[in-house]
Amino acid sequence: MVRIGCVSKANFHHRIIAPSLLAANFSRIGEEVARAVKAGADWLHLDVMDGHFVDNISFGPAIVEAVNQSNGIFLDTHLMISRPDHYLQRFIDAGADLITVHVEADHDVSETLQRIRNAGLQAGLALNPATPIERAAPFFDQIDLLLCMTVVPGFGGQAFMTEVLKKISAAAELRASGKHAFHIEVDGGIDAVTAAACAAAGANVMVAGSSTFRAPDMAAAIRAIREA
Ligand code: DX5
Ligand code: ZN
Repeated sequence: MVRIGCVSKANFHHRIIAPSLLAANFSRIGEEVARAVKAGADWLHLDVMDGHFVDNISFGPAIVEAVNQSNGIFLDTHLMISRPDHYLQRFIDAGADLITVHVEADHDVSETLQRIRNAGLQAGLALNPATPIERAAPFFDQIDLLLCMTVVPGFGGQAFMTEVLKKISAAAELRASGKHAFHIEVDGGIDAVTAAACAAAGANVMVAGSSTFRAPDMAAAIRAIREA
């Protein structure tokens, strides 16, 4: 089965739009997921926060499992938790398709990434805005996706940090050297305007919470990010 978003050299220029469930109405999650799919979402981005790695608590594996059971959309699961190694299996069992862990978290990064791939999932590595690209470089052969956070993680609705564009360009250059194959994802403050800047710098996966789920017309908002 070919899953939308599988990594191949050809599709790094294909833009993937991943609405973040964090901005959805939690009182009717199933309907919100269906609304995103109908509006043209390629992936659904799931922000898991533990109140420790970031200053907010969102949801855990039970919600990931419920979303997986309600809809077949590709689940891009972003673990903003201090011990991704400890909780990893629960998110694998919940039905995540891609799991992204932070390089700044307290774990053996290489081992965690290997475990994700061994389970048959795609592996992502995230960098906070202040973390240099050099921290991710040793793991480039182990990842399907590099997430460059464009806000300090923890909350939706924050302003895009323009200074991260330099890191995105550096990542794209390293990827273009031909030795590595990974998506470049951006997350935080993404709308049609900032998505255009990120795409110009080399990003191809756009996570967008507020600008999609809270738009008057979600399909138009997704289209605008795709075409920006
Ligand atoms: C931030 C999260 C984001 C967040 C993005 O900590 O990782 O995924 O939901 O929200 P917006 O698009 O509203 O900035
Ligand atoms: Zn996220």
